Amino acid sequence: MTGVPGTDGPVPWWREAVCYEIHPRAFADGNGDGTGDLPGATARLDHLAELGVDAVWITPFYPSPLADGGYDIADHTGVAADLGTPADFDALVERAHALGIKVLVDVVPNHTSDQHPWFRAALAAAPGSPARQRYLFRDGRGEKGELPPNDWQSAFGGPAWTRVEEADGLPGQWYLHLHAPEQPDLNWRHPQVTAEFERVLKHWLDHGVDGFRVDVAHTLFKADDLPDAGPGQHQDVHRNHLMPYYDQEELHPLFRNWRTLLNHHPAPAGAVAPHERVMVAEAGIFDRERLARYVAADEMQQVFNFAFLECPWDGAALRDVVEESVRAMRAVGAPVTWVLSSHDAVRPVTRYGGGRAGERRARAAALLMLALPGAAYVYQGEELGLPQADIPDDRIRDPLWERSERRHRGRDGCRVPLPWSGTAPPYGFGAAAPEDCWLPQPADWAELTVTAQQDDEDSMLTLYRAALRLRRDHPAADTVLRVQGPADGSWFAFDRSARLRCLVNFSARPVPLDDGARVLLSSAPLDGRTVPQDTGVWMIHEEYPR
Ligand code: GLC
Repeated sequence: MTGVPGTDGPVPWWREAVCYEIHPRAFADGNGDGTGDLPGATARLDHLAELGVDAVWITPFYPSPLADGGYDIADHTGVAADLGTPADFDALVERAHALGIKVLVDVVPNHTSDQHPWFRAALAAAPGSPARQRYLFRDGRGEKGELPPNDWQSAFGGPAWTRVEEADGLPGQWYLHLHAPEQPDLNWRHPQVTAEFERVLKHWLDHGVDGFRVDVAHTLFKADDLPDAGPGQHQDVHRNHLMPYYDQEELHPLFRNWRTLLNHHPAPAGAVAPHERVMVAEAGIFDRERLARYVAADEMQQVFNFAFLECPWDGAALRDVVEESVRAMRAVGAPVTWVLSSHDAVRPVTRYGGGRAGERRARAAALLMLALPGAAYVYQGEELGLPQADIPDDRIRDPLWERSERRHRGRDGCRVPLPWSGTAPPYGFGAAAPEDCWLPQPADWAELTVTAQQDDEDSMLTLYRAALRLRRDHPAADTVLRVQGPADGSWFAFDRSARLRCLVNFSARPVPLDDGARVLLSSAPLDGRTVPQDTGVWMIHEEYPR
């Protein structure tokens, strides 16, 4: 085994891991009610073993009124009845571990559901009472408290405050919700909140999980006195860290405590050893130096690189994101955690232009991402090249739709049930009639099913399977990443290891392969020994070292 720079230890599993995101209601339906569930997911873990992933991250499966796809949680240590039972969760973990797949779950500490017992107690209690102090209740501004306490905006649109009715039936205090009104923000300066989430972490560790994805990790603390944020909130993400509800200093001691907890809480059989557990931050902070603080040696291990996901299909821009991300993360000794898609983002095939062009670019992007040093997250359906689906108005579930006064259709288009087999909906997702499916599947996905793709050597699934296998055979050399290519970014190349080199051509001008190099994998057919437009190639040099 090679070592981590500066230490003699073996490379921790997560540094180069590929982790597959399961959005359980849309993954596989085990009981035929049209909604994906935990037994359905367990039965399909073989697909992931064959794909070659190291871990899965399961998005919230906890009891929830589903005001925000399960990110509004009424019980952080329960299992939603429509997804299964606690025993079904244990069975999933056991099967995953038997297949050599680690399991990460979501922890959602910023807010609860409005149906959480704490919030119900807060509503029933009087202003200023202890039950209200676990959330962020404030009196309104204006003569009669009729204006929100400050100008903060919800990420889903509209004010981040909702006014409650007090016991006397009159309008009273306001509570903060950075997301939907059904997701009241917790007060992270309250000791009971801190203690409760330590209990939540330990609960899932006791059930064998190997780590956590920390939801909106950058928003838990709000600046003292809740000052106005000013105009332009949510418009310029590059200024996110300056918002009074983002990226506050107190986050870091909290995550250090969580890291200590993870490092010391005993591990049950089958799970990784305590010091091998991982935390991955979802933090919408685009200042790279500030982002790198979340993965300092004594905090989390990974933080999603959303700059890569958000970058358009542009060689110069992508090259800059790649180089700058590696540089900033190296400065704190952390790998980059690459991500091309998630349950919150428009699918890459659509984002990069849609149709054949979008597909071709998404294939090249996959080879780019999977060659880069560091970890990668693959969102369910990315390996099938699913495009964003159109959802009819009356089936939209995302709160963004109503909160934006029906201007923003939201994220349901990437949360459509996976097509597994067959030629018509529900494509083997389960046994329910298509109209009873969690979200409607498009009628033209017959060629995108796992069955249709698995023996087709030109399919996206075959490309992902090959890339994951080769990536494992050719571990990234943990050296400084040297990117080469013309200044206009029309193509660039870099060495993954001493022998494996990745080249991506973005321009219409063909780029020659290296002399003497053998092609291991390419995202599109090559033109003799040249790489055509929107194509990624992995080539190998037989002579070592070059
Ligand atoms: C995260 C989740 C997203 C959710 C939000 C609020 O960004 O990924 O789906 O809406 O947090 O919990």
